[in-house]
Amino acid sequence: MCGIVGYIGPKNAYPIIINGLKRLEYRGYDSAGIALIDKEISVFKKKGKVSDLEEFVSDKNTAGTIGIGHTRWATHGEPNDVNAHPHVSMKGEFVVIHNGIIENYSRLKKRLEDRGYVFQSETDTEVLANLIEYIYSFSNVSAEIAVRLALSKVIGAYGILVICRHEQDKIIAARKGSPLVIGIGEGEYFFASDATPIVEHTKSVIYLNDNDVAIVTKDELSLKTIHNVQVNPKVQKLSLDIGEIEKGGYDHFMLKEIFEQPKSILDTFRGRVALDRKSIHLGGLHDVFDRITHAKRIIIIGCGTSWHAGLVGEYLFEDLARIPVEVEYASEFRYRNPVIFPDDVIISISQSGETADTLAAIKLAKEAGALVLGVCNVVGSSIPRETHAGVYTHAGPEIGVASTKAFTAQVTVLAMMATSMGFKRGVLSQEDYEKLIEELYNIPPKIEEILSFNEEFKRIAELYKDATNFLYLGRGYLFPVALEGALKLKEISYIHAEGYPAAEMKHGPIALIDQHMPVVVIATKDKSYEKIVSNIQEVKARKGIVIAIVNKGDTIIRDLADHVLEIPESHEALAPLLTVVPLQLLSYYIAVFRGCNVDQPRNLAKSVTVE
Ligand code: G6P
Repeated sequence: MCGIVGYIGPKNAYPIIINGLKRLEYRGYDSAGIALIDKEISVFKKKGKVSDLEEFVSDKNTAGTIGIGHTRWATHGEPNDVNAHPHVSMKGEFVVIHNGIIENYSRLKKRLEDRGYVFQSETDTEVLANLIEYIYSFSNVSAEIAVRLALSKVIGAYGILVICRHEQDKIIAARKGSPLVIGIGEGEYFFASDATPIVEHTKSVIYLNDNDVAIVTKDELSLKTIHNVQVNPKVQKLSLDIGEIEKGGYDHFMLKEIFEQPKSILDTFRGRVALDRKSIHLGGLHDVFDRITHAKRIIIIGCGTSWHAGLVGEYLFEDLARIPVEVEYASEFRYRNPVIFPDDVIISISQSGETADTLAAIKLAKEAGALVLGVCNVVGSSIPRETHAGVYTHAGPEIGVASTKAFTAQVTVLAMMATSMGFKRGVLSQEDYEKLIEELYNIPPKIEEILSFNEEFKRIAELYKDATNFLYLGRGYLFPVALEGALKLKEISYIHAEGYPAAEMKHGPIALIDQHMPVVVIATKDKSYEKIVSNIQEVKARKGIVIAIVNKGDTIIRDLADHVLEIPESHEALAPLLTVVPLQLLSYYIAVFRGCNVDQPRNLAKSVTVE
């Protein structure tokens, strides 16, 4: 969370930084700020969005060819102008922007206060700015040394950019735990939390590693560790395309990303399913494939939507490969002294590859000697670098805060893994194996078909836009889909929604049902179809409103439900990939009808780099 951007070179830094901040706004939008060097350092910051900052500076001097900018997701201190970044040290020597959390900030703050420092904000970042300044003035060292010494006293996570009033030719960048990328241009450098603000300027980038410090002038980049050991920068080429990070004619990124799913799922298959569609090869797992197919247990960890994909994974691995699976919230797993055996296989799932709890859980599992895999979307992010092996989802950049295409890509990867492992273990015959691959291949055109019913989802959304509660029910493979449907609705429309296994309804949620309660039932044909028909009858007996997701031609549920949304049939194990799509669209349109900010829902951020 929090996005940071910087520029040093011959051009005016302001438009480059503002555009970059807009690209990173998904990381937080509580406040935005910028610092520009034009002989003096000017700092402008404002509560609210980047557009509020733009309006605020519209009559100010924004000259300067060096600058840093920040968009904030508040952790320490409420969202207001004072707590907004950049933070200026007490004597005005240093200006800092920061993504992450300095855990020992209160102890450091107390020590600085004892030495006469006075603080303006409630943030941990201002403590860092003052600590750097204190070391700089007290020890009479260069800005770079002051930054490195200050960072050696810090416990926590940071991606920072620092500028110094007395060394105006450089930006100092450092990273530990929070991501930072440097783009290399001709006589210019770009800095950002991820590559999206950089790709329109250059495709050559360096991803900083933990404990790296970069000292960058417009002509030169020097990379070292915080302990002053020189590091050779590893320059990589971005494969990202600018069109992938623009709305492309859609009203919102979320809608674009929902509609991209037929393509994003194909991209997930690409190069992994043989052309004759008779085998799956996951290159990233090649070296560990034997070990994972013989795993006695798989533990899947993730947060939010990625955790829901993990739940689908549990059904897939147990059903198709007969390997026992546990699915854990990364945040619970890491703090509850879990039992991890060296022969366990851990699958960490994360769209961003940066989620702090997931990263911490990975470290714990590695320490216990387990094999840790990553299923991530953002190439070059932290989780793929921390794990032993893994599979990129290749869904392309997901910018809407509510995850959609990343979920279906994650489930696709898990389905490919479970299918190939099931075959290797002899659970699936050659015929089952090829049939599943064929079924997987049929998913994208089936999603196309579902998307063509868009107007119908919109019509139903309008009918229920004013509901105050929703219940989502599903069984088996469709239970995680019920959870995901409820999460999508809560996140973007602020309607209270709960997902439940349909059979559990009678143990509690049934008490909530009356004529005002819309109940979304995911009831495609599978082995529990008849049971879910009974659950629908139980809802109707209490006058609940049933919106059912059914297979085409289903007449039984059509007679019972208030509304049916028809989707094509699929293999039971792949039904989550289809059934989730109407739920994404239902939530999307309800949020739009309620006038909510779909892409940037309140209080949320896409990349959760705090614990
Ligand atoms: C945030 C996002 C969710 C996401 C979750 C986990 O809450 O808003 O969309 O599912 O983080 O993020 P990850 O990047 O690890 O999948």
